[in-house]
Amino acid sequence: MAPKEIKKVTTNTIQKLKIAGEKISMITAYDYSFAKLFDAAGIDIILVGDSASNVMAGHTTTLPITLDQMIYHAQSVVRARERSLIVVDIPFGSYQSNSEIALASAIKIMKESGAHTVKLEGGEEVIDSVKKIVSAGIPVMGHLGLTPQSINKFGTYVVRATEKSEAEKLKKDALLLQEAGAFAIVLEKIPATLAKEVSESLTIPTIGIGAGKYCDGQVLVMHDMLGINTEFKPRFLRQYLNLSEQITGAVQRYIKDVKGSEFPNENEQY
Ligand code: KIV
Repeated sequence: MAPKEIKKVTTNTIQKLKIAGEKISMITAYDYSFAKLFDAAGIDIILVGDSASNVMAGHTTTLPITLDQMIYHAQSVVRARERSLIVVDIPFGSYQSNSEIALASAIKIMKESGAHTVKLEGGEEVIDSVKKIVSAGIPVMGHLGLTPQSINKFGTYVVRATEKSEAEKLKKDALLLQEAGAFAIVLEKIPATLAKEVSESLTIPTIGIGAGKYCDGQVLVMHDMLGINTEFKPRFLRQYLNLSEQITGAVQRYIKDVKGSEFPNENEQY
């Protein structure tokens, strides 16, 4: 199934891609203009990630972003959607307390943004919430490994599940998420061998970020892969553009033209 042949990507399409052995492409977006480009380029999934807290708002963690702010970003992305599946992160504090609150947050995202699915972080601890959200008809994507909303517990962004006990818990959590009805799971920053084992043990797809090539799909944060954010250079990141350099150069040329009275010229005025 070539990307262009799929009319509208749904969670069923994502499942079929895993069965067909075709890799799933996912990228983050937080606004209308970039989402429109990514959708037209043929991306399977657009994630309105809570990484918006970092890359859009300049916070150092994903914790501060609110449910209403996530909905604002999601609404902008949904307006651009022709084909891609839209997944929205439920932000920190909007699902951890109990499954009723988790369901209320998921419903608010779906009603107010028009997105197709939600994502939340964690395994066993959030299983009741996953079941409740799924039983309300809302597809859920899980997220295991390095879960940035728990950064204060981890204390560092290093690779997770290198120790046997954490790897065993992750494998168990992945199965629990699948049993609870999750349609896919993000695996972030874990050893490739562990991601391979998890991906092969599940019938639902895994989407990796820093989790090696054996995942059923891959996700990158748009600012990292387009080279907008140049401070973040982890080993797993492949930078496809150097937009930071290009934008800086373009703006410097514009400043020079304005200062030198070279812009606008005769053809650029009324
Ligand atoms: O918020 C985000 O961008 C994410 C990805 C890193 C998977 O959750």
